[in-house]
Amino acid sequence: MATDVHRPVTTRRNAPAVRVEGLTRSFDGRAVIDDLRLDVRQGEFVALLGRSGCGKSTLLRILAGLDRDIEGTVLVPRRKAVAFQSPRLMPWKKVWRNVLLGLPGKPGRPVADQALEEVGLGHRADAWPKTLSGGEAQRASLARALVREPDLLLLDEPFGALDALTRIKAQRLVGELWQRRGCAVLLVTHDVEEAVLLADRVLVMDDGVIAHEQHIDLDRPRDITDPRFAELRAGLLERLGVDTAAEAA
Ligand SMILES: Nc1ncnc2c1ncn2[C@@H]1O[C@H](COP(=O)(O)OP(=O)(O)OP(=O)(O)O)[C@@H](O)[C@H]1O
Ligand SMILES: [Mg+2]
Repeated sequence: MATDVHRPVTTRRNAPAVRVEGLTRSFDGRAVIDDLRLDVRQGEFVALLGRSGCGKSTLLRILAGLDRDIEGTVLVPRRKAVAFQSPRLMPWKKVWRNVLLGLPGKPGRPVADQALEEVGLGHRADAWPKTLSGGEAQRASLARALVREPDLLLLDEPFGALDALTRIKAQRLVGELWQRRGCAVLLVTHDVEEAVLLADRVLVMDDGVIAHEQHIDLDRPRDITDPRFAELRAGLLERLGVDTAAEAA
């Protein structure tokens, strides 16, 4: 039987999770995002780096549907969820109620409990947010994102405020959740090592566009002592304008 290898494949299954074309966002006449193009595959883990103020959070807010004052094309999955650097929990609602906040329909408590279990916080479901540690609050915020069963998970520096050990645990958790859920992830971070550790592809944003992309073709789980890891990390730091020789000194 003849097989037509050139048959165009345009089913929804392999449509990209994110397609952005000609995206421009200006504040007071200044284009922070300027004719930006970005594709993210279904199930792909993408990390986004860039100097402070270059427009990473602006881009994430647009993808989350929180900012629609834009020019250009932005296609994202209907089911998406976002978690920010500060967990943004409502102090007057217990943790499990926070997890269900804003969810359509009237989901029961078991939905919240299951998501909290998944992030290792089942035992704190009845706690008040102010009694959570920083790492626990961040996990509650992740649970709140997970109950939305997102096809696209948007994370804006979710580990930025955590201490080193908690941060490593949270990174591991996000890696596991991503592998289990199979959703696409866009992670904004300032931590190059975190980007290389987790992502399939690392993007560097500059001058309102994606100025550089680096595929990370290292096996998982990744070993930060692997010389190729160090090479990728150094290459990205250079792109970001960090002098790695001075850093090592
Ligand atoms: N609502 C707003 N009104 C005016 N200017 C804004 C607004 N939101 C963002 N900006 C400006 O757009 C630029 C990009 O901001 P953005 O928050 O996207 O940066 P970022 O890359 O996320 O920075 P950081 O790494 O510090 O979080 C900044 O100069 C910021 O001041
Ligand atoms: Mg930001």
